[in-house]
Amino acid sequence: HGSSQINELGHLEIGGVDTVTLARDYGTPLFVYDMALIKKRAYEFQTAFQEEGVSFQVAYASKAFSCLAMFQLTNELGLSLDVVSGGELYTAIQANVPMEKVHFHGNNKSREELEMAVTAEIGCIVVDNFYELDLLQQICREQQKTINILLRITPGVEAHTHDYISTGQEDSKFGFDLESGQVEQAIEQSLKSDELSLLGIHSHIGSQIFETTGFVMAVEKIYQYINTWRNNLQFIPKVLNLGGGFGIRYTEEDAPLPAGHYIKSMVEVVKEKSLEHNMAVPEIWIEPGRSLVGDAGTTLYSIGSAKDIPSVRHYLSVDGGMSDNMRPALYQAKYEAVLANRANEKTENVYSIAGKCCESGDMLIWDLPLPKANHEDILAVFCTGAYGYSMANNYNRIPRPAVVFVEDGEAYLVIERESYADLVKLDRPLALAVK
Ligand code: LLP
Repeated sequence: HGSSQINELGHLEIGGVDTVTLARDYGTPLFVYDMALIKKRAYEFQTAFQEEGVSFQVAYASKAFSCLAMFQLTNELGLSLDVVSGGELYTAIQANVPMEKVHFHGNNKSREELEMAVTAEIGCIVVDNFYELDLLQQICREQQKTINILLRITPGVEAHTHDYISTGQEDSKFGFDLESGQVEQAIEQSLKSDELSLLGIHSHIGSQIFETTGFVMAVEKIYQYINTWRNNLQFIPKVLNLGGGFGIRYTEEDAPLPAGHYIKSMVEVVKEKSLEHNMAVPEIWIEPGRSLVGDAGTTLYSIGSAKDIPSVRHYLSVDGGMSDNMRPALYQAKYEAVLANRANEKTENVYSIAGKCCESGDMLIWDLPLPKANHEDILAVFCTGAYGYSMANNYNRIPRPAVVFVEDGEAYLVIERESYADLVKLDRPLALAVK
């Protein structure tokens, strides 16, 4: 997994740092991000585009994992940033990300959020629906600003992934419907508006996708309408944003393609269709989240109690669970893990790893082969870098874990562990509660 290896003590090491030392120094649960691997993943996307010789932007879909340090890193790497809420936008502002590199998404952006984005002079707003189109025009008029937009369309493509993370199918809450002429109407309204500068079209088909077909079909779908848009509205998109969704390998059941494959097939079909339609090749934007940070993240847990049900199952419980990783409970997501402190021992036993939340569904991994394990051990769960910390919660009033970045033998604490005091910070005792 990534740059992780086993050191002479038999400990799992990430970015040249002993994870057992990390667990001791920072406590558990702990998210550990391998900075070199994030850089490598970004570089793979960027070089793939460069090899194809097209104009591009790679925007990090920050919903996968956001914090100041992460935004500083992605900015250093030359990535743009996709935010989906006032909170993510605020984090980007606090991290000094240049606003022209920020794109704003979401199917129900509030007036306050749109005002915040226009005030900040954000690089681009991906408009999702007519309500937002009207609202944005109004806000731009009030602030006397013009803003770049993309129109998000629903491409009507089924991505082969979990239903909850599939977004491109026609019956989806996201984007303007293509078939019914909504997109054309939205283009017309945008072009007529002095406040909006329509750059192009956006499509996102889903997440954790292992094939290129869905992306190719989405491009083909868009180009079916190019002539109509050009002839009726004199509109030719300068930008095509094809979203994110590139899969990663959580377990051996997953077979993602290298980043370059997705990019190559996307770019090829855009080039081919542009030629066919006698138009310039548009700029191609993508917005990967999971594939930039997913495999760079590892969660360290301390093992606590055990329960053996003779000839049925061995449970081992860890000091986190669905409070720091919702994905197994929500999507039946699967993970691989090792004992960080005895990473080179034979895996002769099979355990099921339970979280500590008061729910039977809080199981992180079923049937995990491990060496004989007990409460002295540290469990390292791989590939938790995307949608782990960002979906963490305080269920059972469990404080959220700390996060460290590691590189070249150094560790940097980028998010502190939440304290019990943090948990009651916003609470008001009844006597003081505002009536
Ligand atoms: N662009 C748009 C418009 C999106 O909706 C998403 C993800 C992305 C980009 C980034 O997709 P990625 O490259 O990360 O697959 N919580 C779920 C994933 C939800 C994805 C939501 N949208 C999970 O843990 O699997």
